[in-house]
Amino acid sequence: MWRAIIDIAVLASGSGTNLQALIDTPEIRPRIRVVISDKPGVRSLERAGRAGIKTAVIPWGDFESRRDFSIAVADAAEGAGAEAMVLAGFMRVLSPEAIERFAGRIINVHPSLLPAFPGVNAVAQALSHGVKVTGVTVHFVDEGVDTGPIIAQRPVPILSDDDEASLHARIQVEEHRLLPQAVVEFIVGKDSVGVQ
Ligand code: GAR
Repeated sequence: MWRAIIDIAVLASGSGTNLQALIDTPEIRPRIRVVISDKPGVRSLERAGRAGIKTAVIPWGDFESRRDFSIAVADAAEGAGAEAMVLAGFMRVLSPEAIERFAGRIINVHPSLLPAFPGVNAVAQALSHGVKVTGVTVHFVDEGVDTGPIIAQRPVPILSDDDEASLHARIQVEEHRLLPQAVVEFIVGKDSVGVQ
């Protein structure tokens, strides 16, 4: 038995607090080959730069199709030496061409207890439905939108005076624990059986 060393690309579209949680995890930080964003100028890129991690901006608007965008993302990840992808606040859906190239090695964090409230605005959706408990899901990515096999979930109660910002802040506390744990367990520290 040997321990495979699996390097990752982190995909992030926004403020990058989940990226920061990954950077701050000693087992993960050396494994991050590149941080890829679909938007220039976002805080995720600043955080990567501060940590000395290579960055790539692949602007969504530069591509004619989701397929072309997704292939460019997968090319950038592979070109940087990544064998797995972690979607940490990445707000684009990748096409099957990209998913197949990293089959079983793409993890996403989503701010609800899936299968409730997939897609965008999951926190607002939970508030407007009046549910009393929402939470965080970390899951493998398949070709659907937030439909892949669930790795871990944590509930977060909704308080009577919550607004979107207060609820999202409590959800993020859980995200910042759950995502790094899953990345260590299922990607970076993955055990492989080697040929003797
Ligand atoms: C996170 O709450 C993440 O769960 C959510 O975006 C936020 C990004 O925050 N992702 C989705 O909604 C994906 N559908 P961050 O940029 O501070 O990590």
